[in-house]
Amino acid sequence: MTWVVLGSTGLFGFDMTKTLIEAGEKVITLNRSDINLLWNPKQIVENIPHAISSPISNIVNAIAYTDVEKAEKDETTAKLVNCEFAGKLAQVSIELGARLVHISTDYVFDGRSTVPYKIEDPANPLTAYGRSKVEGEILIRESDSDYQIFRTSWLYGEHKDCFPKKIARNFLEKKPIRVVDDQFGNPTWTKDLAALVLDHSNLEAANRPKIVHAVASGQTSRFEFAVEIANSLGLPGDSVVERISSTEYLSGAIRPQFTALDNSNSTGIQIGNWRERWRLASRLVLTRNVQ
Ligand SMILES: NC(=O)c1ccc[n+]([C@@H]2O[C@H](COP(=O)([O-])OP(=O)(O)OC[C@H]3O[C@@H](n4cnc5c(N)ncnc54)[C@H](OP(=O)(O)O)[C@@H]3O)[C@@H](O)[C@H]2O)c1
Repeated sequence: MTWVVLGSTGLFGFDMTKTLIEAGEKVITLNRSDINLLWNPKQIVENIPHAISSPISNIVNAIAYTDVEKAEKDETTAKLVNCEFAGKLAQVSIELGARLVHISTDYVFDGRSTVPYKIEDPANPLTAYGRSKVEGEILIRESDSDYQIFRTSWLYGEHKDCFPKKIARNFLEKKPIRVVDDQFGNPTWTKDLAALVLDHSNLEAANRPKIVHAVASGQTSRFEFAVEIANSLGLPGDSVVERISSTEYLSGAIRPQFTALDNSNSTGIQIGNWRERWRLASRLVLTRNVQ
């Protein structure tokens, strides 16, 4: 099978590409210098190497505008990247007869729930980023493409900056670690998400759910996750991490409070408990220093 991964320089895209190569799949990566998001679907197809001569089975869209705060000030760009481009990729996948794998987010929900969100729960984003992602989902769902949308959350990985690396850096630089204890979600390892995407490609098309809640099992608060990260660094997490509330943390965007996702999908593997996955991942994630 030939896969196209768009955005292989990103936190997730990197591990998606690595996972596919390790599994013996053929992978074409496309990044900022290869692709212009303003192109129309035909131009995108023409710029995918070998798209015409060798069949492409899967297109993974890991390109996204992920800066939640900047998106508040530049919703136009967030929509171009997260919505309009995603819609074009749906057309590209139809043209190539390929499955489209699109990555979405827990931020499609408003965070007012007290129990993990199910796939069928209504989206109601609070942020410009969340709106752009919902609109991208809608364009894909309304297309005739063979798509799968994987909603994930609180991603961390080895190859790019992420929450655990920031926490570790603050410890090293002896900066105070103040972390909100009233935002809840599912910390998810990019490698686990990539393995899940690959696993779904082996399912019969008829058995593939259109939307997957692709997160580690169990939920936690940002504070609790930071404590766990500190413990992984050999520090007494409970005493080095200071618990604060969201009202004490200045941010350019409202953060939904509870965005844990219910990952009891009907088919495919389920990612294990977030704490166990973190303990395994931490050795890799915390040893590689990326700014
Ligand atoms: N990170 C999280 O905690 C989180 C949580 C929930 C959902 N998600 C979703 O997971 C997916 C992957 O997120 P991520 O954290 O891996 O994102 P990321 O690290 O920010 O990577 C984004 C990718 O998109 C590319 N990109 C952005 N704007 C572009 C443009 N105008 N033209 C071409 N390429 C562009 C980046 O390229 P450059 O490297 O050249 O900038 C990079 O390869 C996204 O769909 C995101 O919404 C992430």
